[in-house]
Amino acid sequence: MKAVVITQPGGPFVLQIAERPVPVCADNEVLIKVMAAGVNRPDVFQRKGNYPPPAGAPQDIPGLEIAGIVAEIGNTVTHLMVGDRVCALVVGGGYAEYCNVPQEQCLPIPGSLSFIEAASLPETFFTVWSNVFDRGDLKDGETLLVHGGSSGIGVTAIQMAKALGHTVYVTAGSDDKCRFCEQLGASKAINYKTENFADVIKEATNGKGVDVILDMIGGDYTAGNIQSLAVEGRLVLINTMKGNNVQIDLAQVMRKRLVITGSMLRSREVAFKGKIAHELLTTVWPLLVSGDIKPVIHSVFPATDAAKAHELMESSAHIGKIILNFEQR
Ligand SMILES: NC(=O)c1ccc[n+]([C@@H]2O[C@H](COP(=O)([O-])OP(=O)(O)OC[C@H]3O[C@@H](n4cnc5c(N)ncnc54)[C@H](OP(=O)(O)O)[C@@H]3O)[C@@H](O)[C@H]2O)c1
Repeated sequence: MKAVVITQPGGPFVLQIAERPVPVCADNEVLIKVMAAGVNRPDVFQRKGNYPPPAGAPQDIPGLEIAGIVAEIGNTVTHLMVGDRVCALVVGGGYAEYCNVPQEQCLPIPGSLSFIEAASLPETFFTVWSNVFDRGDLKDGETLLVHGGSSGIGVTAIQMAKALGHTVYVTAGSDDKCRFCEQLGASKAINYKTENFADVIKEATNGKGVDVILDMIGGDYTAGNIQSLAVEGRLVLINTMKGNNVQIDLAQVMRKRLVITGSMLRSREVAFKGKIAHELLTTVWPLLVSGDIKPVIHSVFPATDAAKAHELMESSAHIGKIILNFEQR
């Protein structure tokens, strides 16, 4: 098969097309003929050599989410058949014509969504559900602040939380991105380049603060996050793009009884991912079928242009998802 491989750590153009063997399908796995693969920021970190894949994952083929057709099933697979249209969360190897994945990590393509649209779902939907609703325990009537509102993660978090009845605030890096986030359902989008988000959150919540913050920025955002949380608030970290080492006022953590937590999805066990898949299927997939939540696709590149897709992601000019198309090779 053809695959997009990382030939060496470096810039976007280290991504090259190469021949690789079709993966062997283990007992509990299905082999998927990939029609489209989502591009995620962690793929960029992996390409640069800063995010090594877990043991057992394809080491030089990036890609954490795919959509396609089941081409083969393992001996113990019970609930998928050859020919099924699925999307799947994978531990790596998504930028390829074929990819194997445990059956638990597959979900049906919701409604009439295309392969391109379906490939945009798994990584951000699993991550947002797991961190905002499970780990962050966002409860009925509670409010959410999402940093990076126009990111792939951000557009999913806005729509999922809004559709489930929550008030959502976001930060983003331009007025255009802010307007887009508000059209998508955010009550208020804060341009972090021109406004102090903690001041705006304080005013917008009448001094109360928000109940949950989903943060991918870390660094000097952390003090503002602590300040912006309500009593009993939860800060959930999914990355620290502005750095790991921070100074915070621990007295505020005690005074407001805050929880600071975080997680990384990729290395978690299959059963954990299967549990999220089940929760998404029952709670969120109906909202995709009804159109209350819509995929937000910014650009689609042929798989042969994976380097251009990474260049775009690193420019941060995109809003929503970037997809590689494996149908038009
Ligand atoms: N822990 C997990 O399990 C997990 C899983 C998936 C993703 N993630 C993380 O979630 C984040 C989003 O992923 P994605 O695929 O959705 O990426 P993405 O679409 O590329 O979004 C990242 C956004 O972050 C903003 N940004 C970048 N550098 C920044 C900085 N220094 N300060 C402030 N904002 C900055 C940019 O928007 P602006 O123009 O608005 O600045 C950019 O659009 C990534 O950091 C990724 O590693 C974590």
